Amino acid sequence: MLSVKAISDVIDAEISKIQLDKEPKGLYEPISYSLSLGGKRMRPLLCLASCAIFSDDIQRAVPSAMALEMFHNFTLLHDDVMDNASIRRNKPTVAAKYGANTAILSGDEMIIEAYRLLASTDTPFFSLIMDTFNEMATGVCEGQQYDMDFETRNNVTVEEYMEMIRLKTSVLVAAAMKIGAIIGGCTGEEAKALYDYGINIGLSFQLQDDLLDTYGNEATFGKAIGGDIMENKKTYLLITALRNADPMQKKELMRWLEMENPDRQQKIDAVRAIYDATGARRAAEMKIEEYYVRANAIMKRMDIIADAKRFFFDFSDNMLKRNR
Ligand code: IPE
Ligand code: IPE
Ligand code: MG
Ligand code: MG
Ligand code: MG
Repeated sequence: MLSVKAISDVIDAEISKIQLDKEPKGLYEPISYSLSLGGKRMRPLLCLASCAIFSDDIQRAVPSAMALEMFHNFTLLHDDVMDNASIRRNKPTVAAKYGANTAILSGDEMIIEAYRLLASTDTPFFSLIMDTFNEMATGVCEGQQYDMDFETRNNVTVEEYMEMIRLKTSVLVAAAMKIGAIIGGCTGEEAKALYDYGINIGLSFQLQDDLLDTYGNEATFGKAIGGDIMENKKTYLLITALRNADPMQKKELMRWLEMENPDRQQKIDAVRAIYDATGARRAAEMKIEEYYVRANAIMKRMDIIADAKRFFFDFSDNMLKRNR
């Protein structure tokens, strides 16, 4: 089994090969800007690592791994428009730097580029990979729509929230693993187990993203803290706080949710204080752990080489400890 470093070097080298020095600059430069800022690049890592479980030839999975990272970056361009976000990866978002129109169109081109990369994958299982990718892409759009719908609802349940994050985040993580494994030559059962691992680690990952959005450090997280609070995002924190709040706390929380043009820092401080007081923070930390344990249990049951299992246990440990 290859090391994270070895796989990451392949990914970084391949991304730098993508040719974006083209006209019109207004379309391609924001794509290059987005990709050059890096990020964790965990989806191509998971794709190539999943291929490596079953085959020594990970090069075959590289175009699909690139397609997944390109698609992920597209979702971020559009997501930052939808979430009114101005900072990502410690830099202005494409929407903030170039405007929303550019984020939309450069994002569109990134989807096309993602499909171009996917189509160049040399594998006998091409149609299965295409189906997996398409199902993922539709899932992400559905999840993003629920995410926006929930902003104006105050009765979102934990079940609805979990399904929303399964769609907007987990299906991409899971598809990355499934696609890599299929190219590597896994069985249908193995593909399903890895997909399930990806779903659970993705749920843990998004729960933690929401926690970091409220409690993280802006310099390490790379995004503006409190964005979810400002957009009234129905995170596990907010749903739990609404459920646990006493009548006074509930009234206070509802006042902030309904206030038009609140002062940014005042709202963030007040809502965070209610999260602390209602035990929402602790509950979210436990939920993150719960899905991390579920993911590891699936990995433990798999009949694959010990080295490969270790790779994914280390991966989930690093995800659990992350601050970015
Ligand atoms: C951001 O994903 C979107 C979420 C699903 C939370 P990442 O946290 O993987 O973003 P980068 O690519 O590392 O910047
Ligand atoms: C992530 O949701 C899901 C997608 C981008 C599809 P967020 O809105 O929480 O992601 P960040 O926090 O902006 O990266
Ligand atoms: Mg966002
Ligand atoms: Mg969002
Ligand atoms: Mg977030």
